[in-house]
Amino acid sequence: MQEQIVALLTQANKEGFRYISGGDIAKELGVTRAAIWKYIESIRKEGGIIEAVPRHGYHLVNPEDLLLAGAVEVKTETIGTKYVYLSEADSTNSEAKRHLRQQGSLADGLVVVADCQTAGKGRMGRGWHSVPGKGIYFSVVLFPEDLPMSKASLLTPLTAVAVYEALVKVTGLPIELKWPNDLMLRGRKLGGILLEASGETDRLRYAVIGIGINVNLTKQDIPDILSDIATSIYIEGGKTVPRRHLLQEMLGFLDTQYGKFLTCGPEPMLTEYRRLCSTLGQRIRFIWRDETYSGLAIGIHSDGGLMVQTDSGESLILRSGDVHCL
Ligand code: BTN
Repeated sequence: MQEQIVALLTQANKEGFRYISGGDIAKELGVTRAAIWKYIESIRKEGGIIEAVPRHGYHLVNPEDLLLAGAVEVKTETIGTKYVYLSEADSTNSEAKRHLRQQGSLADGLVVVADCQTAGKGRMGRGWHSVPGKGIYFSVVLFPEDLPMSKASLLTPLTAVAVYEALVKVTGLPIELKWPNDLMLRGRKLGGILLEASGETDRLRYAVIGIGINVNLTKQDIPDILSDIATSIYIEGGKTVPRRHLLQEMLGFLDTQYGKFLTCGPEPMLTEYRRLCSTLGQRIRFIWRDETYSGLAIGIHSDGGLMVQTDSGESLILRSGDVHCL
């Protein structure tokens, strides 16, 4: 019911009606006005700013920033066809995995979005700083058929390409992809991808892909310890970006990339990733089997690994870990 009310209020805004009366909403949805009032209160608690004017009705003030179900238009084939919104989660990846356990096997494309995370997870055991109302934090659950576990890591560059496309379309900013999972802007990190996959050697059972984007964070929202390495669209672009629009675009581009991946295989996506990955051609430092190396990043392997020529002349393929550009 809440989702339907949000959808009606969002639609009324789009059609240029400033207010929609409680009576009209009640009639449309077949419930009492008192029930509508209760739902309006619950939407407010979840971040919807709703003006109520006697004899006129209700008006949603912030439709562009709401990520509630009903506000976000999902026009995709797969990604987001099941959409769960939470005003707060520990981590959307953990929440998505709990959904999987509770509901058993699910179809491709469940999306779990949270306005805020209390224990957002980053790669390599790190955390992800999540600011209520200012970032986009979501996870996508996929069950790609017949994908061996060794190829699951391809879902990271696939996601990176899709998120890149959405960010460039919405912001026009010079986004870069840093191997393996960073979205960068002017040398600082703007977003990251956390892939958690489960399965047996020959078959991936499921993949949860978590995406975090610093959208409208100000400098004050970024902890001092991250201030040299993290940034946001707002800090770099100088204006706020409607989160709903950006999320819709990310779901759309993810849907297109995933559809192509299932029908044509990984090569078209990898070609695009190689073109966009700013790590390629750079001298890098990295840790491999407990030793620190430096070398040149020379290519992306067909499984998404980073091909490196070390300074001592060895050829290596990195499949995880951090690289530092020198
Ligand atoms: C990284 O760069 O280390 C990956 C960061 C991934 C953060 C996102 S926010 C949404 C999803 N839920 C999480 O707990 N983490 C990912």
